[in-house]
Amino acid sequence: MACSERRRGVKVAVLGGAGYVGGELLRLVLQHPDVREVVATSRSQAGRPISELHPSLALLTEARFASHTPAEAAVGQDVVLLALEHGESSKVMGDIVDAGPGIIVDLAADFRIHDGRLHERSYGPHPAPALVHRFQYGLADVMGTALHGARAIAAPGCFATAAQLALYGIAELPLASAPAIFAVTGSSGGGQAPKPSAHHPARAHNMFAYQAMGHRHEGEVLEQWRTWRGDAAAHARLITHSGPFVRGIHATLHAHLAEPVADPNAIVRARFAGRPFVRVLDAPPELTHAVGSNLALLHAVPSPDGREVQVMCVIDNLIKGAGGQAIQALNLALGLDERTGLLAPGPFPC
Ligand SMILES: NC(=O)c1ccc[n+]([C@@H]2O[C@H](COP(=O)([O-])OP(=O)(O)OC[C@H]3O[C@@H](n4cnc5c(N)ncnc54)[C@H](OP(=O)(O)O)[C@@H]3O)[C@@H](O)[C@H]2O)c1
Repeated sequence: MACSERRRGVKVAVLGGAGYVGGELLRLVLQHPDVREVVATSRSQAGRPISELHPSLALLTEARFASHTPAEAAVGQDVVLLALEHGESSKVMGDIVDAGPGIIVDLAADFRIHDGRLHERSYGPHPAPALVHRFQYGLADVMGTALHGARAIAAPGCFATAAQLALYGIAELPLASAPAIFAVTGSSGGGQAPKPSAHHPARAHNMFAYQAMGHRHEGEVLEQWRTWRGDAAAHARLITHSGPFVRGIHATLHAHLAEPVADPNAIVRARFAGRPFVRVLDAPPELTHAVGSNLALLHAVPSPDGREVQVMCVIDNLIKGAGGQAIQALNLALGLDERTGLLAPGPFPC
């Protein structure tokens, strides 16, 4: 059943609409001025009102989740957005491509990495390698108008987004060490399925490392970092933690510099000049200042001798790190103003 029949323009299918990322996508597309019609599918929740799974969407839709297969949902659509668990996109992407929608945006990790060895290191052998090169990597704040006309976009991971925005800021600096990015995520980063590490008593007043020395987002981070550095052996290390909050990622990059740099913040600011959702602040950013919006907030600090740099980046993992970035990339692919439908501020305090 369609969620909305009242707008003129783009027809959108959201596959996996019952999950956390699916809910964020629905919130954004149901308010997007260029979207005419939205259908949301769910294998597990078909027939239930969307607002039972995503209560705040009661303000926007009375529709229910559809039970269409991915291929059925994709037929006749201008846009298909996939928010499925890891590995599921690979199983259904061939059928979706054959159904012939205008643009496909996948929010899972399946099609983010073009280098087969990097993909295999993070995720094992690719189940659908022939489809990988159809996809453009959708780091919207960096790729910008390079996404114009894209037909298939792989939206970056949430940790990967925060890490890469920090890395992109310093990508032209002379480095004496591989950057290390210490990052903390909220519990919504793990999706809706209950698990011991997301159980309230284990999480509410706690913090712990996970996937140490090998978080799986490192693959996509390295692929972009190597391109920006022009060095196929360039390295960067992601150091990931779970924190006692629901939404958001706080990342701090640290690197040693080969030459002193007096004002890295000015350099980072120049790297993102004109990018509407990146703000380079004059002080370290706070998580709650980005949560609820599509903003990425950055700040860079030199050591007293100018030979070390730290770059902080905060984002909302479900917006800038998932749904918001995907819609920004979609806007760019469609040739729309990339800010369309994304300017709502987050609540504060939150
Ligand atoms: N969470 C993040 O911060 C984040 C950020 C960037 C990218 N991603 C990626 O986006 C994809 C989706 O992530 P997610 O966090 O949205 O995962 P999720 O909440 O676990 O949702 C994934 C799927 O779980 C299924 N599901 C099964 N039972 C459900 C229930 N009772 N309620 C709701 N959904 C149920 C839904 O599909 P069916 O109903 O069809 O079974 C849904 O599409 C993943 O590939 C993830 O890696 C996540």
